[in-house]
Amino acid sequence: MALLLWLVFILNILTARCEIKQVYLKRTTGQECQTLQIGESWSSRSALECYRDCAVRFPDTCQSIVYNSDNQTCTPGSVAFGPLQNVDTSIPVTGSDGLIFYMKQPIPSCNANGNFTLYDICGTTACVYLSSSKVNYHEAVSICSGMNSSIFTGDTLARFSVFWKVSLKYLNDDTWIGLTDLAVQDRFVWENGELLNDQLALWIFRPGYPNKSKKNENCAEARHGGWPGIYGLNDARCQTEKFYMCEPLDKYIAK
Ligand SMILES: *[C@@H]1O[C@H](CO)[C@@H](O)[C@H](O)[C@H]1NC(C)=O
Ligand SMILES: *[C@@H]1O[C@H](CO)[C@@H](O)[C@H](O)[C@H]1NC(C)=O
Ligand SMILES: *[C@@H]1O[C@H](CO)[C@@H](O)[C@H](O)[C@H]1NC(C)=O
Ligand SMILES: *[C@@H]1O[C@H](CO)[C@@H](O)[C@H](O)[C@H]1NC(C)=O
Repeated sequence: MALLLWLVFILNILTARCEIKQVYLKRTTGQECQTLQIGESWSSRSALECYRDCAVRFPDTCQSIVYNSDNQTCTPGSVAFGPLQNVDTSIPVTGSDGLIFYMKQPIPSCNANGNFTLYDICGTTACVYLSSSKVNYHEAVSICSGMNSSIFTGDTLARFSVFWKVSLKYLNDDTWIGLTDLAVQDRFVWENGELLNDQLALWIFRPGYPNKSKKNENCAEARHGGWPGIYGLNDARCQTEKFYMCEPLDKYIAK
């Protein structure tokens, strides 16, 4: 089993004002979490030195490091995410025992009458309502909005991994995600209005999907029930009934 350990590093990052920055790094392996490389590797004597160098070289984007203690190679990384099969450029490679240290992302407020719960996947925390019954896509959108929330979107790799891992573990059946091409065929848009970019589409859909020959399939789902063990979104008919997840709207206000 992976050795899980929260390390608190209080680092004196060299900035104009010489601020003390408190950084929470969790150490785990490529079996549990991965990241995207954001720059060339270099040599560091320790994981701590590796992280400090990463924070200095990439002050805005360094959110994780992959440190190989055998050859002292330090690789800078993006926000960590739970391993996703289609993300072929991730480090460490899927399923490896390679070490990764990642930073915890800001935790959203979550106090909506016990209907919502915090879930953390590789340091990205979301406040989520898990449905207890299956409904069509439009009903899911409307139920979420009735709770001052929105159907869950996965508009970054880290947030998508929260959707995929949480729906798989806790619902373990077909689950709507807030992503449709209802307005313009084959142009998938998140429920928050953002267009799905081509790179993310390749990472989150099952290879070969969305199925362009099926014009009546406009709503995206994790098909955990219909295709157990198969990674990647499917485009389904919006009128079919599936589980869903909601997230409070104040997440968007807090941004
Ligand atoms: C260090 O080891 C890793 C894993 O074996 C390898 O992928 C990487 O290329 C090595 N780096 C250097 C600079 O030798
Ligand atoms: C939300 O929680 C309240 C209070 O516990 C409960 O009455 C209500 O049915 C819940 N709503 C949903 C959609 O689960
Ligand atoms: C939604 O937010 C409004 C305004 O804050 C509040 O009055 C209302 O009670 C909230 N509804 C639910 C279901 O939480
Ligand atoms: C897409 O749908 C068509 C028509 O049902 C089917 O023949 C084809 O195999 C599907 N493609 C994939 C990748 O499943």
